[in-house]
Amino acid sequence: MQIVVIQGTGVRGCTHHIKEFFLEPLRAQHTITEFILPKDFPHFCCGCKTCFIKSEQFCPHAAYTMPIWNAMLEADLLVFVYPVYVLGAPGQVKALLDHFGCHWMVHRPDKRMFHKRAVILTQSVGAPNGAAQRDVATSLAWMGVSHIKKLGFGLMEGVIWDELSQKRRQSIQDKAQRLAARYTQPKAVGMSLKTRALFAMCKALHKITLKNEKTPSADNQHWIDNGWLKK
Ligand SMILES: Cc1cc2nc3c(=O)[nH]c(=O)nc-3n(C[C@H](O)[C@H](O)[C@H](O)COP(=O)(O)O)c2cc1C
Repeated sequence: MQIVVIQGTGVRGCTHHIKEFFLEPLRAQHTITEFILPKDFPHFCCGCKTCFIKSEQFCPHAAYTMPIWNAMLEADLLVFVYPVYVLGAPGQVKALLDHFGCHWMVHRPDKRMFHKRAVILTQSVGAPNGAAQRDVATSLAWMGVSHIKKLGFGLMEGVIWDELSQKRRQSIQDKAQRLAARYTQPKAVGMSLKTRALFAMCKALHKITLKNEKTPSADNQHWIDNGWLKK
């Protein structure tokens, strides 16, 4: 199995440890590619819209986006692991996902995304993790990922890994590895009802816009090329 990990901080702290615990049972059998933000993706979307209008290949940051996107397309399992920052996902995670808006089903989804599994691992001192997880889950769902599992941790005792009690660290390790045990083997994933519904809605939208186009837009041409829409 190919696994891609997007880690939302370069600090070798709590997020790093949670990632290591999760990956430990998977490392021996699977190929793991890791990207650490913001080091591996140090850009914000500049709003040029070239990805939507022409192609993601012409994004000014394509040298950074394409290796990550291609690795995600090759992967069977996508793992996002990041701390909660001010009740949301860290800006560097959001900045990466902004660059993948062109792959949402309202634009040009890649059919390989329909059969992947994704895991979102987050932690905070004590704040709810839901909103931070939703930032990533929403993007993945619109890209067509059907299986998205979320797991959040509350550190409660502080923000420095070595200062957490042994009991707390053990509990975090146990939970992360119990979840990892569900991902040791590849699993065929079909499109969920929600993904099918979003896809059908987007297909209807593309059909309407295509009627008014002399030359199909990049988005609609993509739908035609995939056999999802007729000219
Ligand atoms: C800029 C920033 C904002 C944070 N915002 C919150 C927050 O809103 N709620 C919370 O419980 N923890 C918050 N934290 C703590 C982190 O979620 C996390 O627990 C901490 O950074 C330790 O993780 P790390 O070692 O991977 O950096 C914040 C930390 C940082 C650096």
